[in-house]
Amino acid sequence: MDETTGAVRSMYEQYPYPSGPVVNRVGGDVELVLSYGARRRETSGPYRVLDAGCGRGLGLLGAATLQPEVRFLGVDVSRVSLEDARRQADQRGLKNVAFAEVDLMTLDGLEVPPGGFDVIHSSGVLHHLADPLAALAGLRGVLAPHGVINLMVYGRCGREALQDLAGAVALLFPSDVGLKDRLPAAREAAALARGHALAGTRFEDTAGVDDVEFVDRMLNVNETSYDVPALFDLLEAAGLTFLRWLEPADWDPRRLVPEGELRRRLLDLEPRQRFTVLERIFRPAGLELIVAHAGNEPRPPLSAADLPRARFRLHPETVINKGVRHTPADIRTETLSFTVRTRKPVALGAGPVAQAVLVLAEKPGTRTGAALISELRRAGLGAPEAQAIILELLRNEVIFRLP
Ligand SMILES: C[S@@+](CC[C@H](N)C(=O)[O-])C[C@H]1O[C@@H](n2cnc3c(N)ncnc32)[C@H](O)[C@@H]1O
Repeated sequence: MDETTGAVRSMYEQYPYPSGPVVNRVGGDVELVLSYGARRRETSGPYRVLDAGCGRGLGLLGAATLQPEVRFLGVDVSRVSLEDARRQADQRGLKNVAFAEVDLMTLDGLEVPPGGFDVIHSSGVLHHLADPLAALAGLRGVLAPHGVINLMVYGRCGREALQDLAGAVALLFPSDVGLKDRLPAAREAAALARGHALAGTRFEDTAGVDDVEFVDRMLNVNETSYDVPALFDLLEAAGLTFLRWLEPADWDPRRLVPEGELRRRLLDLEPRQRFTVLERIFRPAGLELIVAHAGNEPRPPLSAADLPRARFRLHPETVINKGVRHTPADIRTETLSFTVRTRKPVALGAGPVAQAVLVLAEKPGTRTGAALISELRRAGLGAPEAQAIILELLRNEVIFRLP
C-alpha cells in the first residue's frame, strides 16, 4: 500500500465514515441507472454492483435491501468500516451483499464477475485517492461494456472556503500531531469561521457536526476537488464519457435561469461550457454524475413507434403524493402531485395525466407500453392520448424505461 493510501486508511479507521443510518440513495436503483446508457447488456444472470470505497456501506446496504435479486460488493481499505458494514448486513439478514478489503489504487484481490460489473458506485472517494486518474481508469477496466459508473466528487468551487480553511488549520500542527489532538483547535477555528470564512456557504454548520464528519471535512489527510473542466478532462483521460448528471435539473438553464439573454446564451453553448458557467454561478459542493465507457452514449428518447414493446416501471426516485378525503359515503383523491428527488412538487389537476398516474400508482410493477396503453384505455383514455401521456410521464421521470 502506498504511503498516502496508508495515511487515508488510518484516518478512516479512526473515524469510519459516515456516521448515521442506512440510506436509500439517489442513483441506487440498478435498472434505473443502466437505463441512462444506450448500450444494452449482452449477458444474463443477476446484475452485479461494485461500491468502490463503500465506507460503512450505508448506501450499499439500503440498495441491497431494496433489490434482493441484485448482487452487491462493497470494497474499502478501512477494515473498521468493513467490519461494521458486515455486521449490519448480517443483522439485516442480507444474502446479496459481500464486503472485501481492496485498495482502489491496485484493485488487488478484487473479484470481478465474468464480463465486468454492471454498475459501479463511487461516492466521495476518488478525491481522497493517491492517484485518482489511475484508480478511475482501473475501475473502467472492471466495468462491463454496457456498464455505468455513478460518481460523486468534491466540487472545487463549492468547497473553496472550506478547503482554504482546512489548509490554514493544517498549518497549526506539526506533522506528528494525531487527528484527535487536532480536533479542539480545529473546532475553534470552524466556530469562528461560521460568521466569516464559512458564512453563507453550505459548510457554515461545520463546527457543530460530529467528529466523523468534522474530520472528513476539516482534517482530511488527503483530498483534492474538481471543477467541471478538470472533471471532464479526468473522465476523458480515463476513457470514460459523461452520460448525465444525477440530478439534471441542477444543470438545466430552463429550470435555473429566467427566460432572457443569459438563458439563451447558455443554451447555445456546448454542454461542457454551459456546465462551467452554471458551476461558477451556483457553486455546487459536489459533482454527481453518471459516466460510461467512451463510445457509449446517453440513451436516445423513446419514439412512439418503439413504445408498445418498451417496458416501464414507476420511477424509484419519484414520490407520488396522493391527498385522499374520507367522507362517510366516499373515499376520494382530492389532490395529486409528484416530487422528483428534491425538486419542488408538481401538482396534477384532475385531467388525463392525473388519471394515468392514479392507474400506475395503484399497481406498481413492470409493464410493457402495450399493456400500459390498454390499461389507460380501460380507464377511458383514447389510444393516441394514452401514448402521448406515457411519453410525458417518461420525460417527467414519473416512470422510466427499463434497460
Ligand atoms: C468519505 S468516505 C465515503 C464512504 C462512502 N462511499 C459514502 O459515501 O458514505 C471515503 C471512503 O473511501 C475509502 N478509501 C480511501 N482510499 C481508498 C483506497 N485507496 N481504496 C479503497 N477505499 C479507499 C475510505 O476508507 C473511506 O471509507
